[in-house]
Amino acid sequence: KAQKRTDYKAPNFTAVDIDLTFTLDDTHTIVKNVTTFKRLTSDTKAPLVLNGEDLKLNYVKVDGIEAKYKDVKNGIEISSVPDEFTVELENVINPSENSSLMGLYKSNGTFCTQCEPEGFRRITYSLDRSDVLAKYRVTIIGPEYGCGVLLSNGNLIERGTRKNRPYAVWEDPFPKPSYLFALVAGTFDIVSDTFTTMSRRKVALELYVDRGSYDRGLWAMQSIKDSMKWDEDRWGLEFDLDNFKVVAVDFFNFGAMENKGLNVFNSVYVMVDPTCATDTAFYNVQSVIGHEYFHNYTGDRVTLRDWFQLSLKESLTVFRDQEFSSDVANRALTRLHAINVIRGPQFAEDASPMAHPVRPEEVMEMNNFYTVTIYDKGAEIIRMIHTLIGESRFKKALNDYLRKFDGQAVTIEDFLCCFEESAGVDLSQFRRWYTQAGTPHVKASWTYDEANKNLVLKLTQHTNPTRDQKEKEPFYMPIRLSFLDKDGHDVHPAELSSDGFIIFNENEQEYRFTLDKDTFPVILRDFSAPVKLDAPYTMEQLQHMLSFCDDAFIKVDCATTMQNRYVHDNLEIAAAEGVLREPAELIASYKSILDSVDAQSDLILINETLKIQSIANLMETFDKINIDAIKYAHDALETKVAVSLVNEFVQLYGKIKASSSNYSVTDMGRRALNNLALHMIAVAKCAMDKKTEASEIVFNHYNGSKNMTDKLQAMTDAVHLDLDCKSEILKSFEKDWSKDALVFDNFFRVQATVPNKSAIDNVKKLLSHPSFDGRNPNRVRALTGALALSNPVALNDISGEGYDLLCKQITELNDINPSVAARILTPLLSFRRLDEKRQGMILNNLNSLMQMPKLSRSIYEKVSTALKE
Ligand code: ARG
Ligand code: ZN
Repeated sequence: KAQKRTDYKAPNFTAVDIDLTFTLDDTHTIVKNVTTFKRLTSDTKAPLVLNGEDLKLNYVKVDGIEAKYKDVKNGIEISSVPDEFTVELENVINPSENSSLMGLYKSNGTFCTQCEPEGFRRITYSLDRSDVLAKYRVTIIGPEYGCGVLLSNGNLIERGTRKNRPYAVWEDPFPKPSYLFALVAGTFDIVSDTFTTMSRRKVALELYVDRGSYDRGLWAMQSIKDSMKWDEDRWGLEFDLDNFKVVAVDFFNFGAMENKGLNVFNSVYVMVDPTCATDTAFYNVQSVIGHEYFHNYTGDRVTLRDWFQLSLKESLTVFRDQEFSSDVANRALTRLHAINVIRGPQFAEDASPMAHPVRPEEVMEMNNFYTVTIYDKGAEIIRMIHTLIGESRFKKALNDYLRKFDGQAVTIEDFLCCFEESAGVDLSQFRRWYTQAGTPHVKASWTYDEANKNLVLKLTQHTNPTRDQKEKEPFYMPIRLSFLDKDGHDVHPAELSSDGFIIFNENEQEYRFTLDKDTFPVILRDFSAPVKLDAPYTMEQLQHMLSFCDDAFIKVDCATTMQNRYVHDNLEIAAAEGVLREPAELIASYKSILDSVDAQSDLILINETLKIQSIANLMETFDKINIDAIKYAHDALETKVAVSLVNEFVQLYGKIKASSSNYSVTDMGRRALNNLALHMIAVAKCAMDKKTEASEIVFNHYNGSKNMTDKLQAMTDAVHLDLDCKSEILKSFEKDWSKDALVFDNFFRVQATVPNKSAIDNVKKLLSHPSFDGRNPNRVRALTGALALSNPVALNDISGEGYDLLCKQITELNDINPSVAARILTPLLSFRRLDEKRQGMILNNLNSLMQMPKLSRSIYEKVSTALKE
């Protein structure tokens, strides 16, 4: 049932012009489709095979004459067609019943579409593949009950009223694959603006949001303009249409979608104001608006030959959005977030049965491959290319690539060849990043050669086998490097190139640098390759780097490494629930940071350094996972840091004030650090038998701020630490926000992420809350999804109730929305890393999932893969 990458065949036909007429109706939408086709194959007998799923077909005509067709699996076949011809057909669909949210569906009253990767075939019969590019003309006739806004890609040609129904005609001047088609119809508030491009063209910008939510769209509109400006400034890329439209919808399977000229967004990534959204939400809106906008070149103008190439557009576009956030928000924070995605979920995926190369070889359900490997590891690979060739050659190569392949559907190989030629670089061994799955383990060690006054650095690499590949060849990677002397000065030996990195591309390599004896290497600056690094730093060296190194990642990583070592060194004691030692070095480093914080400090970086990392990320530092012991050690670590430094945190708290409750990068840092102080004080007080005091300060924090970042921190601490103020805060939050779905999602998420067994009961209870809705993906992700993906402790509770609950929900969701169901199933696939008892319980659940009636392809692929290993 799986498709293989190497089985690619060029299409026998292509579509040239597609003329669609939608007569919208909630349950009975009529689609008339007139498409001109051209034969590409020399085989004149080859029939035309069109994709179509869940469609009711009324008639098919070829060149105006009723045609015979054959039903084939998920489509129809029309034989004896000429070399050029027109197919006219009509089919009926039911948007209201479409809970999969692929194709045309109704989202809270709005008609909208999601076609990537294979949703167009749920709208009408077509050559639904990314290498068939056609020009679209779309007529939308609104529903009988009326409808203010009718949108599709491109330019508005005509609008008016016909037979009492509003209609609009759109034409997209750019040929595109069907996955970039979009249609939206509904009632909205519209935020309008304009952008003048670098060649002085005026582009009309329109952002469509829920009625009454105009103000919550303003930041997204600003972000659109910032994205357009940045793409011109950094890469010389100018917008190519006369108008650009973004629509926010409430029911959406993913983050957003880059349909040509008409981006459709999950409202989470549009709707923000300081009273309803956190600083992180503002930051994310800017980044996702950027991401979808940047796809206009990397994705839309140059698209994919087939879905195995997905990373071609996604990795490049993630790299571009990360650079955008780095330039317009904060570089260190952006980099640290990206690294956390790699070291948490991506390393987990690499270690799971679903591990796959960035360019997969075998796919059963494409929806399962919108993964952190394809997106985020892919972006790290692009970043390595950027490191290897430098900004100016990268910029030239990107422009050459976009010029050379404009209007075409291409492959990762095309991209690599073009970069090799344009930048004059040999990427032959580097290509292994696209063909081999798994995380490389890099071990570093160094000695001093007194005779030659040389520091000798030795690196080795090893990649564990994955299900699909037993043998791994060495990867080609840039290792960014610097050297610190005993006074904390940077020393630059002659042997290190001015770019500051070395190439590591064998299983084992040695490098020599002329240096003084007590100088040591700072390895993998800026996380220059997506690997697990094992370097034998002493605690003193970690502290030294933390104080003196000028690289944000290295600084934070020193703290992370100290935390990891603490958890690893104490795991046995933790497993026996014994008394753990003090994390003395970490506390000393933290104390010196806290003693010197003032308003001038880099608060974002300090906050990232002081944070105790998540249990999920800690888990990824182990092969076999003893979840109870990790949780015990994690909590002990946090408590010891909090208690030892409680005075410092009390000193800090309230000292660094945000200038207003609005979003700005500076205030985001101030609030983040202040909220960390609050959290640590609350943790400390709880541990010191002063829970009442903890409750008081948290309660005041909740009431003392209008800003959602602050309120959410207080609510989280109240709920997760089970403080006295918990029910009062929850009640007040419910009263204020229960009508506001996006904000109210937090009510569900906070209770689903309590890091102990009680979260399971919370989820059970909240599943019958009047505003829980299993058809709303954001709500599902906030409740069941949060338990599955953000609460490893409760999910893996030894009672097995977490597994049972999750699988029961997955069974229900399998019928409603397989994409969402398959997503929240992910953590169970790695059951073999757990103890035998848990393995057995998960195995039982996975086996019964396989027995469920109407098992979706998405779940089948994931579960069967996990069971096979
Ligand atoms: N291309 C979209 C983006 O990354 C995501 C589409 C997700 N679709 C899916 N079927 N998973 O911006
Ligand atoms: Zn994307």
